[in-house]
Amino acid sequence: MTTGQPGQPGTPGQVGPRKLTPQEEARLAQMKQQFQQRKALSEKLGRIKKRIGVYSGKGGVGKTTVAVNLAVTLAQEGGNVGLFDCDIDCPNVTRVLRVSEGPTHENEVFYPPQAFGVKVMSMAFFQSNEEEAIIWRGPMIHNAINQFLQNTEWGDLDWLVCDLPPGTSDAPLTVMQTLNLDGFVIVATPQELAVLDAKRSINMVKKMKLNVLGVVENFSGDLFGSGAGEDLAAETGVPFLGRVAMRREYVNANKPPVLVLDAIADEYQEITKNLRRVIGVG
Ligand SMILES: Nc1ncnc2c1ncn2[C@@H]1O[C@H](COP(=O)(O)OP(=O)(O)O)[C@@H](O)[C@H]1O
Ligand SMILES: [Mg+2]
Repeated sequence: MTTGQPGQPGTPGQVGPRKLTPQEEARLAQMKQQFQQRKALSEKLGRIKKRIGVYSGKGGVGKTTVAVNLAVTLAQEGGNVGLFDCDIDCPNVTRVLRVSEGPTHENEVFYPPQAFGVKVMSMAFFQSNEEEAIIWRGPMIHNAINQFLQNTEWGDLDWLVCDLPPGTSDAPLTVMQTLNLDGFVIVATPQELAVLDAKRSINMVKKMKLNVLGVVENFSGDLFGSGAGEDLAAETGVPFLGRVAMRREYVNANKPPVLVLDAIADEYQEITKNLRRVIGVG
């Protein structure tokens, strides 16, 4: 195109709307797509009553264990429950729940498999080798989580429990921003360092203007002591949801420990009772 024709950007005396530059066209297309995606996503998320993240300052404190047993307990109490493994670096939920079958799919829609009354979706289903490390960067995480949420047919859910990546780096941050959660359950152990990490993660959630639903103390008992979770909750001004003892039933369990031992079921029922109170559902 030669300069000076009507429709060229910046042409004096042009008639009607000027033609967009290719860059502007692309930007507009991208904005439209993002809008459509957001709309589709919010429709999808609208069918899920409560979305909660399970999060910790560091790995190995029992985040996945708490997410799984919490989800199973909510299902036992009669809810429609989904469990979304967003710990993209270490997607362990399927291993802990012993789900070996991946989702079925029709065109682009994935139907999550169900285990112990809980619908499960995980990055691990799409990982060819379980031992392989997946390296994700911010925009990839955002896209992957979005895509997962959009393409998964959860149906109508009362609860979606999300197992988040630990720490305060890019990965958990991006996941938190993408998921639009009602709030977070923070898992801490009685050890001092883990508590310090937990404090940091509570502050991070607060800084992002997101909601902390409360603290769960895991690994309570003779070895590590107990009570630090309550202190942490009091100190940071968030509710204490309950404590879970360290027990042998977690080792080599072939079903979720809440289904193995009444004492564990009781611990988790206390947590769901407090969670319902905090979140305001019956
Ligand atoms: N209350 C508990 N008693 C005994 N073992 C536990 C308990 N909670 C978690 N574990 C074990 O600790 C290990 C780490 O737990 P996991 O949930 O994978 O941590 P995270 O997701 O925070 O990295 C797992 O082997 C799990 O079975
Ligand atoms: Mg984990």
